[in-house]
Amino acid sequence: MSVWWKDVVGYQIYPSTFNDYNKDGHGDIKGITKKLQYLKDLGIGLIWIGPIYKSPKVDNGYDISDFYSIDESYGNLDDVKIMLKKAKELNIKVIFDLVLNHTSSKHEWFIDACNNIDSIYKDYYIFKDPVDNKPPNNWKGFFQESVWTYVEKINKYYLHIFSKEMPDLNWDNKNLRKEMYKVARFWLDLGVDGFRLDAIAHLSKDKTFKDSKLYKDDLVYDTSKFSNRKEIFKYLKEFKKEVLDHYDCVTIGEVGGCATTDEALKYSSYEDGYFNMVFNFDTCWENGAYGSIDKNDDEIKTNVLNMKKLFEKWYENINGKAWMPIYWLNHDHPRVVSQYGNIEYRNKSAKMLGLTLLFMYGTPFIYQGEEIGMSNVNHDSLDKFTDVNAKNIIKEFEDNYNDYEILRFLNRTSRDNARTLMQWSSKQVNYGKIYLNENYKVVNVEDNLIDEDSILNYYKKIISLRNNEFHNEAVYGKFKLVYRNNKDVFAYKKTSDKTIVVISNFRDYIVTFKDYVSDNKIILHNYNDVMISNNKLVLRPFESYLILIK
Ligand code: NOJ
Repeated sequence: MSVWWKDVVGYQIYPSTFNDYNKDGHGDIKGITKKLQYLKDLGIGLIWIGPIYKSPKVDNGYDISDFYSIDESYGNLDDVKIMLKKAKELNIKVIFDLVLNHTSSKHEWFIDACNNIDSIYKDYYIFKDPVDNKPPNNWKGFFQESVWTYVEKINKYYLHIFSKEMPDLNWDNKNLRKEMYKVARFWLDLGVDGFRLDAIAHLSKDKTFKDSKLYKDDLVYDTSKFSNRKEIFKYLKEFKKEVLDHYDCVTIGEVGGCATTDEALKYSSYEDGYFNMVFNFDTCWENGAYGSIDKNDDEIKTNVLNMKKLFEKWYENINGKAWMPIYWLNHDHPRVVSQYGNIEYRNKSAKMLGLTLLFMYGTPFIYQGEEIGMSNVNHDSLDKFTDVNAKNIIKEFEDNYNDYEILRFLNRTSRDNARTLMQWSSKQVNYGKIYLNENYKVVNVEDNLIDEDSILNYYKKIISLRNNEFHNEAVYGKFKLVYRNNKDVFAYKKTSDKTIVVISNFRDYIVTFKDYVSDNKIILHNYNDVMISNNKLVLRPFESYLILIK
């Protein structure tokens, strides 16, 4: 099997907000097809498209009610075929999101299971009897609620680690597993090049279903009860044998924030893993924004040291044994310019972030809009948040925090930040209810395309260097942090045939660094001139270099 997926730059499309072809206020498949050339021009070789299957969209498509059909709001199967054909012509690989952990509560299996005591689908899900008229245990799920919801008609609770509209599937059931393999084969047969496997670390739960004793509270958030449990690997072995081994496809498992590097290897090692790589989110929250409701804005500051050490840890523990995807964010995170950059230095900081990421190691994934420096929402009221998780956070905090505090927290952290409409033009019309960040008048693709100094044109340069002249260094070169204890600068060397150095100031103030510039060749730089003082390289806010060592 070929390893084309190591050589490409990936791009994540969040379909509802990417491109609205039919002008109904919501992205669609034709809209994606129309922008494939744009992605080709950017240098993209692989796109990951979020779920477009039939769904009530409680969780924007991750709640699937029919795995075999396309949600009307996106188009239909013919649109998908046309998109795949066009992508093939442009040599862009396409992967879909595959959600194996849960369905929508509107899936026919679940409806039958809740309405019919003898349903053959009951065992496709995890139903339990009430205990003393209460839920079976104290587990809290990812969306701030109990993992149990009661169904009166059959007097049972069902388990859902995400929202109550997303009941978890029971992977112990052989027929269910077969059904899910069939789903995967269907899409691979149609021509998709692989999958991003949603929530894959959670396929198995602690089957004793005993209370968590992690800490004392009514509900306990203890992800060990439903993450990375050993039975998963039995299922994945079967999935690989039944499905993946028969296709030249790429698989990227989402293992959330809960997998260690050793666990990641169990999923994806070259030797005996099941996927080609796994997403973890270790490096996404290194500014203290996560869990920051009590913090003031001045307490949110990128911990460059920690961030570098995390990237280093993943490289050192994984390199040579498995492959990794690398990214600043996905649709579950804040925008990276707001997170690690600074919108007052949008152009400089977005360029710096792009360069830092794209030469590091692994297969990079750019999240839609990152290439033009799209930033967080700045909502002025709580009712503007639409994400199911954000709504649950509001409920959870409203008794103990005021609106300002919750708003500040959500504006920093919520998933809505990445889910605003892609900003294509200053004349963009918003035909629906999905939020369009007000800065679209100045932050948009059209203007970026004509401005030589734009973030987009800089991304094109970075990607072109990665795809061509410095391909070996960027993709296969040995990674080593340079001055790893520097608290402000993220600098690293990549060595293959040549040695290159990336130097990036993560601060909005001036810092100094070793002068790599005077004796070597500057390949890329986000300022127009070089500042050296006392034999030191002076780095202005978010200044960043790509240097070729002579
Ligand atoms: C992970 C996805 O990235 C997220 O958006 C979703 O809410 C959960 N899995 C549940 O499917």
